[in-house]
Amino acid sequence: MCGIVGIVGKNNACKHALNVLKNLEYRGYDSAGLAFLKNNDLNTIKALGKLNELKSKFETLEEEIKDVLIAIGHTRWATHGKVVLENTHPILSENIAVVHNGIIENHDQIRLELKEKKVIFETTTDTEVIPHLLSISMKNTNNFFNACVSVVDKIEGAYAFAAIHSSKEEIFVARKTSPLVLGLGYGYNIVGSDAQSISQLVNEVIYLNDGDYAILNKTKIQIYDTNNMKVEREKINIKSNYNILSKNGYKHFMEKEIHEQPNVLINTIGSLVREENELNIFPEKMNIKKNYGITICAAGTSHYAAMVGKYWIEKFSSVPVNVELSSEYRYRNPATSMYSSMIVISQSGESIDTLMAMREAKRLNLKTTAITNVENSSIDREADYSIYTHAGPEVGVASTKSFTSQLIVLLSIAMKIAINNKKITIDKYNDFIKNLKLVPNFLSKILSLNEEFIKLAQSIKNSQNILYLGRGILYPLALEGALKLKELSYIHSEGFAAGEMKHGPIALIEEGMPIIMFLTSDGMEEKSISNLQEALARGGNIFLISDKKNLKKIHNIQNKVIVPSFQENWNDIFSPIFMSIPAQLIAYHVARERGTDVDQPRNLAKSVTVE
Ligand code: G6P
Repeated sequence: MCGIVGIVGKNNACKHALNVLKNLEYRGYDSAGLAFLKNNDLNTIKALGKLNELKSKFETLEEEIKDVLIAIGHTRWATHGKVVLENTHPILSENIAVVHNGIIENHDQIRLELKEKKVIFETTTDTEVIPHLLSISMKNTNNFFNACVSVVDKIEGAYAFAAIHSSKEEIFVARKTSPLVLGLGYGYNIVGSDAQSISQLVNEVIYLNDGDYAILNKTKIQIYDTNNMKVEREKINIKSNYNILSKNGYKHFMEKEIHEQPNVLINTIGSLVREENELNIFPEKMNIKKNYGITICAAGTSHYAAMVGKYWIEKFSSVPVNVELSSEYRYRNPATSMYSSMIVISQSGESIDTLMAMREAKRLNLKTTAITNVENSSIDREADYSIYTHAGPEVGVASTKSFTSQLIVLLSIAMKIAINNKKITIDKYNDFIKNLKLVPNFLSKILSLNEEFIKLAQSIKNSQNILYLGRGILYPLALEGALKLKELSYIHSEGFAAGEMKHGPIALIEEGMPIIMFLTSDGMEEKSISNLQEALARGGNIFLISDKKNLKKIHNIQNKVIVPSFQENWNDIFSPIFMSIPAQLIAYHVARERGTDVDQPRNLAKSVTVE
């Protein structure tokens, strides 16, 4: 989703701003632009499509604007208004330029007021009200900072914005809910949508608190809180991770991220199992109480991780778990008397729906625990307790390694609550930890089946509709498999609980329609196989992904990929982690066959910061 950058005091500011925008590409965008001051003149460069388009336009001017010391830039993911140059940020009014992420919820009202003052709008964005308000305010006060503060008072919604005025080399920034990070350089200062994006330019960052605003020039940053009081915020040292952001010989980041899962899970497990046979998880910090349940909120793939988590936590600890979509929880007045704890799951730590659900839970007096991949993200900073997935930066828009690392954390939470509540024996707990450590190596074995998934992908790549089925703990994997496929390949795909087929989805089956089923030996495999036979009888083209143990029971299914079986007592428990690999590889290879933009699928964003 929209990325913001601002640089003041550094030579070749536009080039540096472009590099930061490159680092923010992962968020998803459809156009991009820069505004800069050259001899107190405000200029812009804008382009539709990928950053290369903007870069080409920049390069024709590069020599001329090398000495530019102040620039703001933006990657836009359209919300209000089509993807056209006029709507591409920076949005201008007279000698003011603004880049903005989020939504100004009262923009209609402000637009009407401004139109009455004869203001002419040139875009259909909600953003445009900001530069116009600033222009009008500047006429009254002739003080850019005061004008910006008056705008912050006026606008509502969730936003982050940066503004410049042609008269001064300074940048005003403000954030409410949407993320914004300041970076402190030597003789220059920077603002960016996340710390990693500016980490090649600065070693120290300041995370703005919610509602903060600030003014930056080349030597100074002054921050104000929601009460308009000057405040100091903590400076944090950061390391650049961008040197590891290469594709390592893979064609796409997604492919690399799929294949690096064994190593990633070593990190995740290493952070959880610090001492021999002990999990570094504290249910007391999560406020897990007798006779109370847990609500888990998340969005997208993280929501499917939550669904798997419910199976595990209820199975092992008997604590009731309610799983909700973050976007629903916030507005539905949930009854919470039965719940003492909320877990939110978010790779980015910035999904606004999940952040808002967490705030709602806090308001309702639930203790909040974040499972996140990004330390110091908004969700991490606001949660009462955080558990990190340690998956490393994930660039592909579609979640892969963050999903499996979230699953590892959730299963570990389930086992830790279970041992604390004496629902499992110490032997079982120790055995779990022993087996947990075997998971990364086992994932490598499943990844070595890559060629089989390429073949499977080739046989379904031209289909128009594909169904995914799973039962029990693999039902969420059917949903995840279908989500991955539709995001990446744009083929319509749906996931269903296998037992639900007969209640409706079976009507969709036509001769030759691909139906992909995930199967593990969990005691329900016979029922799942019956569901499959029903689909087969109606002409479905079945593709079964099953562990080895079921081999004898599935002799009449032609297309199958047999994944190895894990340790006897743990095979079905860990199966959602293992089946993630086929779900990811199928979607990846279908997309690759179809030639779609694997790492940045159309219309999608990695970090969704609008509601
Ligand atoms: C977006 C991404 C998904 C992701 C979801 C939740 O929709 O495209 O891949 O699962 O957001 O993101 P989060 O960062 O909160 O886990």
